[in-house]
Amino acid sequence: MTTVLEVSNLSTSYMTFRGVVRALEKVSLKLEKEEILGIAGESGCGKSTLAWSIMGLVPPPGKIIEGSVKIDGIDILKLPENERRKKILWEKISMVFQGAINSLNPVYTIGYQLAEPFIYHRNYTKKEALEKVRELLKMVGLNPELVKRYPHELSGGMKQRAVIAMALALEPSVVIADEPTTALDVVIQSQILNLMKKLKQEKRLSFILITHDMSVIAEMADKVAIMYAGRIVEYGSSDIIFNNPYHPYTRLLIKSIPRLRGPIEKLHYIPGEPPNLISAPPGCKFNPRCPQATERCRKEEPDLIEVEKGHFVRCWLYEGRES
Ligand SMILES: Nc1ncnc2c1ncn2[C@@H]1O[C@H](COP(=O)(O)OP(=O)(O)OP(=O)(O)O)[C@@H](O)[C@H]1O
Ligand code: SF4
Ligand SMILES: [Mg+2]
Repeated sequence: MTTVLEVSNLSTSYMTFRGVVRALEKVSLKLEKEEILGIAGESGCGKSTLAWSIMGLVPPPGKIIEGSVKIDGIDILKLPENERRKKILWEKISMVFQGAINSLNPVYTIGYQLAEPFIYHRNYTKKEALEKVRELLKMVGLNPELVKRYPHELSGGMKQRAVIAMALALEPSVVIADEPTTALDVVIQSQILNLMKKLKQEKRLSFILITHDMSVIAEMADKVAIMYAGRIVEYGSSDIIFNNPYHPYTRLLIKSIPRLRGPIEKLHYIPGEPPNLISAPPGCKFNPRCPQATERCRKEEPDLIEVEKGHFVRCWLYEGRES
């Protein structure tokens, strides 16, 4: 296996007037070639902050506090900003931003907006760039003649294909897709997921797929990281996470997935709310909602430990089980 991305101890905070929001705490992960790593967790757990941090593009008042993001062995966070933007972003790693379909500029054609990376990164003429855009549109299953259309003339699914095409323009090897199907109905959602699977194989791409929807993760991911309060609380192959989860939060998340087949089961929900990340509780951050919390959980925070090969858990219940 070839590791294409290695994130180590990445921490990011937002310096707000109300206090420091610790949105990401020492997150580490690895992405292999042609792998889909799913990142899941409730709203506000830090998924988008992780995506922005990996790209080194955290918007103010956010600040990366520590950590490294290595691509081809180079820590891209250490590169000067202009070099990172010129040589790494969109060239080696790109991102489909959360809600990107709503930020397509209404006054420019799809062709104009997708041509930009070819003109600015590759010095193509406008005509050459538009030809490349036509190829890109075909690749994501869209009619190349859409180059002449404006965003409002496209459906939600078509716009999502167009923003995926934009992320693929300069043939990066890693794509981060942040909630790429959230605003779409189920039929269009499965078409977009199938497109991502096809691109993974044909273009030998690696994806980080971020979603709060565990059924999307179940369908797509090879490996899964479950996040809670800015931390990874469980990490392992999709098979382990869905068939033999250890962390109480992961178990509750999986129980909350509605099932289409099999006997009708009562739908579970996770009581309580995720913590405020300015003043998260001491100890394990999940303790106020955890059915198995003990006195110790309320005082001391557990580390993420490897309980079996490739399976990591952050929970006192597994203390002493390091493999
Ligand atoms: N610009 C900002 N200023 C201050 N706090 C922020 C900012 N952006 C995010 N946060 C806070 O950082 C934490 C993580 O937010 P983030 O958007 O990364 O979560 P998320 O998991 O992507 O949520 P969602 O599923 O709703 O997209 C939250 O507590 C959020 O309120
Ligand atoms: S450490 Fe304690 S509170 Fe946290 S998940 Fe494990 S049992 Fe629950
Ligand atoms: Mg988000």
